[in-house]
Amino acid sequence: MAIVTGATSGLGRASALALGRAGATVVVNHLPGSEELADEVIGKIGASGGQAAPFAADVSQSNVRAMFEEAVSRFGTVHILVNNAGIQSGAGFHQMTLEQWRRVMAVNLDGQFLCAREAVREFLRRGPQPEISAATGKIICMSSVHQRIPWAFEANYAASKGGVALLMQSLAQELAPARIRVNAIAPGAIRTPINRPAWETPEALSNLLKLIPYGRIGEPADIANAILFLASDLSDYMTGATVYVDGGMALYPAFRGNG
Ligand code: NAI
Ligand code: BGC
Repeated sequence: MAIVTGATSGLGRASALALGRAGATVVVNHLPGSEELADEVIGKIGASGGQAAPFAADVSQSNVRAMFEEAVSRFGTVHILVNNAGIQSGAGFHQMTLEQWRRVMAVNLDGQFLCAREAVREFLRRGPQPEISAATGKIICMSSVHQRIPWAFEANYAASKGGVALLMQSLAQELAPARIRVNAIAPGAIRTPINRPAWETPEALSNLLKLIPYGRIGEPADIANAILFLASDLSDYMTGATVYVDGGMALYPAFRGNG
């Protein structure tokens, strides 16, 4: 049983569909007002033979507890959390408002804290279930190459993902004895609504591709494949790891034949 946050678009949607196809029951978390989008994802999971239910909750608010309570009362427990919901709200640093700073931190970092805390509480309450998984529970944090690559005009976003990196590692260190695995995915540029301006015109796409040695933009399925791996026992000896899925973006491509 998996909870995927921000599951009506982009990487969350692709991850929810992939987990549903793989046989997990999926709670499709979405923002209030996105009910139709959530129904579309649930319909697709149903059509692929899976089971899914929607839950409207802003991950930066304490009602994420109600989401976990409903998941447990309806499906018995939770095994996998995909901490995916995230936003960008960039600006020149001297023009960035405190509200912009706080909103990005609230969704990208508080949201991951609140959801991970509820997941860990449920994993510890339920204890091991070896017939389901070798791990008592699994948390996958959606980070970004910008947990490592500084990002001008997006200081709040980069700071939030840097925070995700150490939140993930600290949880992994703390919870490994309880057989709770905590890992992250650091996507590079993946074609979703969050970065539409970076790929929607041929000029923008051609500029973007200069940053990607592998020579193509990522697609949501590239990330969903990594989610499936980290959520399954195939990665049972992995915890505290960040898997870069970025076509080489984090390899400092400007240094190829230079420097
Ligand atoms: P997206 O904009 O398509 O999807 C974000 C989802 O999060 C949407 O469904 C949105 O409704 C939801 N969301 C936003 N605020 C929320 C809140 N307070 N509570 C619940 N849900 C909320 O963007 P995308 O690309 O799918 O982003 C997903 C994650 O992947 C984010 O954490 C983002 O930082 C990360 N990421 C994306 C990359 C990309 O190139 N697309 C690269 C690296 C990381
Ligand atoms: C951002 C995208 C960006 C990508 C690579 C992600 O974290 O959300 O907008 O295209 O990093 O820079």
